[in-house]
Amino acid sequence: MRQSLVVGNWKMNGSIQSNQSLLDNFKQNIKKVQNAQVSVCAPFVYLQQISELLKGTVIAWGAQDISNQKPGAFTGEVAGSMLVDFNCQYVIIGHSERRNLYGESDELVAEKFAMAQSVKLIPILCVGELLEQREAGETENVVKRQLDAIINLQGVASLANSVIAYEPVWAIGTGKTATPQQAQNVHTFIRSLIAKKEAGIAKQLQILYGGSVKANNAVELFAMPDIDGGLIGGASLKADEFLTICQAAR
Ligand code: 13P
Repeated sequence: MRQSLVVGNWKMNGSIQSNQSLLDNFKQNIKKVQNAQVSVCAPFVYLQQISELLKGTVIAWGAQDISNQKPGAFTGEVAGSMLVDFNCQYVIIGHSERRNLYGESDELVAEKFAMAQSVKLIPILCVGELLEQREAGETENVVKRQLDAIINLQGVASLANSVIAYEPVWAIGTGKTATPQQAQNVHTFIRSLIAKKEAGIAKQLQILYGGSVKANNAVELFAMPDIDGGLIGGASLKADEFLTICQAAR
């Protein structure tokens, strides 16, 4: 049985004050979440604050990116060992905003994935197609290419200690959610692709859906057999709504 996982991706949002009130509220109610592991991925500069607020709770935390390099002369980058210093458990890798706005290639994403695992962080690898790719019938090819970059560099066994998030780019921040069936189809594709190489890993792998998950659509998305939880953007910034989404996990 795969445990459900719901991860909040705060993106470039938050302030010392708003983080405190969001997490205070969320912590008071986390007992209501029975069926999911929960994590929040915050901007780097707030990891110290988040680690203090969440220490000793069941809520895990992580970062939204990692350098592909070890510590050294890389101005503006943040190394994996630094994330470990703040007791991060997860790190989001290859989010479509990193790929599309900052030009991260499949190869760079794979190097970041490897770096995360080398310091024992759990990478949450994001994959997903653009609208024009979906319309051109390219969804499966795109997702396969993104996964193959990881498998080619690190081997399929590396996926055992990772989480995959399917995030169709056209559904992110647009209010346009993939239908549960559309999401399920891609999740099945991902799982079967990995199963062809390593059935045991495919069976255990948590595959999250992300893209306009809200309190009012989480139940039907999470009801699909291959959707093991969600990667939540905008709705993770509201304590009540994020809690409702976490409660929707099977
Ligand atoms: P939204 O939930 O705001 O659509 O963002 C999804 C996402 O990109 C999570 O990583």
